[in-house]
Amino acid sequence: MTLIAWRKDFETGFAGIDFEHQSLIESINDLHSRIDQSGGNISGAIRQLSEIHGLVEAHFALEERIMREEGFSRFREHKADHSILLDEILDIMDALNAGEDIDLDKDLGQKVRDWFTTHFSTFDRDFHIWEQREKNNPQ
Ligand SMILES: [Fe+2]
Ligand SMILES: [Fe+2]
Repeated sequence: MTLIAWRKDFETGFAGIDFEHQSLIESINDLHSRIDQSGGNISGAIRQLSEIHGLVEAHFALEERIMREEGFSRFREHKADHSILLDEILDIMDALNAGEDIDLDKDLGQKVRDWFTTHFSTFDRDFHIWEQREKNNPQ
């Protein structure tokens, strides 16, 4: 089952950015599909989750670097929202490690979907609109 299907709600209004987000989602889905869901291989599942965490973190790091370089004023709030998702993924890994009964489709999928639905269409959109304005009206 595909963990996250692309939704219109995810769109930022910038085709290039949407394409990057689509690739990120495809990679997450690919890693998720390789998790052994029988529950017998916890360390394997944690490894795949840590790869997912790494991919998401790399996307955020790139975005944050661009924001800092361009002097984006709402950088802190944006970065704080990135941290929320990264923490949620770490919490799921901790819970799995602690032997808690985690349903990845539900627990991970729902959290990531909810977060993407808000973040892409608000925070990322806001930043890219700002960025484009700056480019059109350099100080
Ligand atoms: Fe972002
Ligand atoms: Fe993004």
